[in-house]
Amino acid sequence: MNVKIPGECPAMWRTEYEEKTTTVSDLKGVVSPGSCVYVESGCGEPQHLVKHLILENTKLCDVQVYTSVPLSTYSDFGGDYGSRFRIQSFFISPNMTSAFADGRADHLPMSSLGKYKLFSEGYITINTALIQLSPPDAKGFMSLGVTVDIMRSIIEKADVVVAQINRYMPVTGGDTLVHVRDVDHIVELDEPLVSYPLLEPDPEVMQVGEHISRLIEDGATLQIGFGRIPDAALIFLKGKKDLRIHSEIITDSVVDLAVSGAVSRSSADCREGGITASLCIGSERVFGFVSGNQQVEMRSLSDIISPGTILSREKFTAINGAIEIDLTGQSCVGMGDQMGYFGALGHAVFNRTAMFSPGGKGIIALRSTSRDGSLSRIVPEFTDRKIGIVTTQSDVNYVVTEYGSVNLFGKSIRERALALITIAHPRFRQWLLDEAKRMNYVYEDQVLPPEGAGYPGSYESLCRFGDKGLLVRPVKVTDERAVQNLFYAMSKDDRFHRFLMHVSSLHHKQAQDLVTVDYTSSMALVIQNGQGRQDEIVAVAHIAPEESRGARKVCEFAAMVDPLWQNQGIGTFLLRRMIAVGREMGYSHMRAYVWEDNRQMLKAFEKLGCGMTQELDCHVYRVSLAID
Ligand SMILES: CC(C)(COP(=O)(O)OP(=O)(O)OC[C@H]1O[C@@H](n2cnc3c(N)ncnc32)[C@H](O)[C@@H]1OP(=O)(O)O)[C@@H](O)C(=O)NCCC(=O)NCCS
Repeated sequence: MNVKIPGECPAMWRTEYEEKTTTVSDLKGVVSPGSCVYVESGCGEPQHLVKHLILENTKLCDVQVYTSVPLSTYSDFGGDYGSRFRIQSFFISPNMTSAFADGRADHLPMSSLGKYKLFSEGYITINTALIQLSPPDAKGFMSLGVTVDIMRSIIEKADVVVAQINRYMPVTGGDTLVHVRDVDHIVELDEPLVSYPLLEPDPEVMQVGEHISRLIEDGATLQIGFGRIPDAALIFLKGKKDLRIHSEIITDSVVDLAVSGAVSRSSADCREGGITASLCIGSERVFGFVSGNQQVEMRSLSDIISPGTILSREKFTAINGAIEIDLTGQSCVGMGDQMGYFGALGHAVFNRTAMFSPGGKGIIALRSTSRDGSLSRIVPEFTDRKIGIVTTQSDVNYVVTEYGSVNLFGKSIRERALALITIAHPRFRQWLLDEAKRMNYVYEDQVLPPEGAGYPGSYESLCRFGDKGLLVRPVKVTDERAVQNLFYAMSKDDRFHRFLMHVSSLHHKQAQDLVTVDYTSSMALVIQNGQGRQDEIVAVAHIAPEESRGARKVCEFAAMVDPLWQNQGIGTFLLRRMIAVGREMGYSHMRAYVWEDNRQMLKAFEKLGCGMTQELDCHVYRVSLAID
């Protein structure tokens, strides 16, 4: 799978290699005052060259240092060094936040596609490139190893290329080979690569990761954004099958997933490895994993980020973090958080393009609050001036917090605001609702389940009816339109049977009542078709408290099933489920009021086969049964 290596006369490249080999002290003049330098970034950073040719080079003056993902070396830079050189970075990782926040360094807001264009088309001219490579093979080819990024166009365009040859740099497969003839100076120095081990996920991050994993289907191709949350999602994917990774960055988190067997050895068309990436950022664990591994292909950023490539992959699923999301669905990264990551990288392109691949999804995931819990990360309006909106309103698809996931694709601002409030931290939901009302995003009389009424996810399950797998789950306030659609799909007689009166419409207020339960004394289960794509509800069943006398606690049952789905066992299934739910909620008896000619409902009760009483009063059967 490596690029084909043309024939090469061994003696020629060896001589050239020796002639080009030098030391940093002989290269001091290679970076001159006023010049533009590009430093290979991430874990591929040539630390020895950077130290001697930039950080400790007192001869520098007004040098611009471009880099993509600086991880360590520049973390103390600034102040005294400010007039000698200034860093120009496309991404800010936690070690660099203060330098950027204090204005001691420059950030270029740019997507990865733009970054590639900037250098390959000569918008920025690079005088000196500092790169790092593995030692040469028998034909004089050295590997870019863990950072392929935009290095090929930098090497091609730079006036002078200085390469640190480091035995710690792994030889990786893909498009990573650079020949001795393509560099101008060689400095041999072995030193461990910059290491960036995984940050420990906290319980909230793990919960977000678990919710993300529920959205990942077998056979999906994943892009994993840089950060704790996307990494945490991978922990929960070990039971999946036939996954592939196609990501700008891979980290240590990929290793366990690959070792678990969840990741394919090769791409769907067998033309590449199962893991394609452009930067490998992590510790010796992932460096060892990618070294000589046929499953992994390191490729130029332009290949990885190409929308055409992303669109051609089935179920392409992009997983990216955000620092805040507003109620309209646009999300941002920001420098407010000292531990935060700031910069667009491939985030926007992946998220936007993924959802248009066949069966694809764009997932934006974030904690519902700041780490200390004092601020909501779902906000009416962005709070920090130091933000960058990376995902726009028109690009949003799934949003995930530790309280679940919502799909905002195809949703109005009103529906988005309400959906996002349902996955906000419960402490902030009422405030968000009040703000949403103030901004006229939602109905004036919009209500939420009472505070403390946690959505009982344990009642979610997949069930088969005929040849269809349908999702059974507790109702949510966001189901209002879908329940209205169900109502309007019912015949006049069905509506009469459900409400025991003639009802020709179900306005917002009435529909809202049907989707607002407290999950403690009242409950509704819906059956959803489409498994999370567009939420078509084909049935809904309710239980609500009726009279209670002494130890006798009674709930009333009612249900409606879409005519297209009737007589397939759904009504009976919901009745059985609701008996179990009612029992768990502490009810001892269930009651239903059934019109005398409603044979289907009466039959469903009969099929239970348990003792029940039926009293006919004014054409209505009062059906009662003990459920404890
Ligand atoms: C009542 C209702 C919820 C039942 O849902 P459903 O999914 O059709 O129910 P099921 O398929 O589980 O069971 C219906 C049974 O009635 C039977 N049935 C259908 N029409 C019948 C008829 N005219 N006479 C006798 N039995 C009949 C079906 O064959 C089926 O029994 P089977 O499984 O033994 O074949 C649904 O019909 C509905 O929504 N009706 C309108 C609203 C309503 O009446 N709600 C109840 C208010 S309490």
